[in-house]
Amino acid sequence: MSRPGQHHSKFGFDAPMPLSDHRDFAAALPFSSEVVERAMDRLLPSADDPEGRLYEAMRYAALGGGKRLRAFFVLAGATLFSVGYVSAARVAAAVEFVHAYSLIHDDLPAMDDDDLRRGQPSCHRKFDEATAILAGDALQALAFEVLAHPDTHGDPAVRVQLVAALAQAIGPHGMVGGQMLDMIAEERSLSIDEITRLQRLKTGALIAFSCSAGAILGKASEPARVSLAAYAQNVGLAFQIADDLLDVESTSEALGKTAGKDAAQGKATFVSLLGLERARDQASRLADQAALHLDSFGPRADLLKQAARFVVDRRA
Ligand code: IPE
Ligand code: IPE
Ligand code: MG
Ligand code: MG
Ligand code: MG
Repeated sequence: MSRPGQHHSKFGFDAPMPLSDHRDFAAALPFSSEVVERAMDRLLPSADDPEGRLYEAMRYAALGGGKRLRAFFVLAGATLFSVGYVSAARVAAAVEFVHAYSLIHDDLPAMDDDDLRRGQPSCHRKFDEATAILAGDALQALAFEVLAHPDTHGDPAVRVQLVAALAQAIGPHGMVGGQMLDMIAEERSLSIDEITRLQRLKTGALIAFSCSAGAILGKASEPARVSLAAYAQNVGLAFQIADDLLDVESTSEALGKTAGKDAAQGKATFVSLLGLERARDQASRLADQAALHLDSFGPRADLLKQAARFVVDRRA
């Protein structure tokens, strides 16, 4: 029997993350996705409590979908510093909980008013607005509970660093600040500098945390942290430009979310400002730059380098 919050796996408790067995990003992504899915499933509440509807909504929004790219960044970053399996999987789960919360709230009528997410009705469409808001709130709280738990790392100083870094990444000077700018971007046109800031906050900051979490867990040297942070900054921006491009160029079926939303809502994005071709070039250049920042890690960073390319070449 496992306690809630405790993570057992066929790899055992202190085993290293076997992601490094994979040479190809194409195989590593589904592997890491499975790892995080299992961890999330164990960490999410499922008891037969009167508030079970909340648990159901949390599970609905968090499990069984998404590319799990942020989880991949956590796990791949962790392999660079020989971080244990359980630590890495728990942090990856925390990041995906936060991401799921952000998507639930992003889809609400007061925000992007989106009916489709990951190929199914968005959380407030499946349940109701109040339940969706609460599920988002609860997923956010659960993420911090997971980080603060001793199973995540034996050293309390490391756990505090994780908590502080995630709070910074998703608070007023991070994701939520970016979402505020994103709402403002519907009201007035933004300059390229303002859009860059918006994207760095709204999407870049959580991706940056994901890429750097392994360095925190592994007590990495300052130069290693700086290299990863530089990689993450470029990848984060490239990721959001690719998201904006897909919004224009792809279909709702392929994306599993409503395409064409940004233009329909008159939202300023890199694409609306630069046009498709220049936005595509910019994303590609950022992916190349991201990979260069990892040269000091040698071939151990190959998966992360491939991930940077995937971020801009992806079709969904
Ligand atoms: C979508 O993120 C929201 C943005 C921050 C642009 P993803 O494209 O990573 O969404 P999932 O997790 O794969 O559904
Ligand atoms: C969402 O950005 C960013 C966050 C949830 C923080 P978008 O609004 O562009 O994401 P999609 O396109 O709905 O996935
Ligand atoms: Mg949005
Ligand atoms: Mg949206
Ligand atoms: Mg989008």
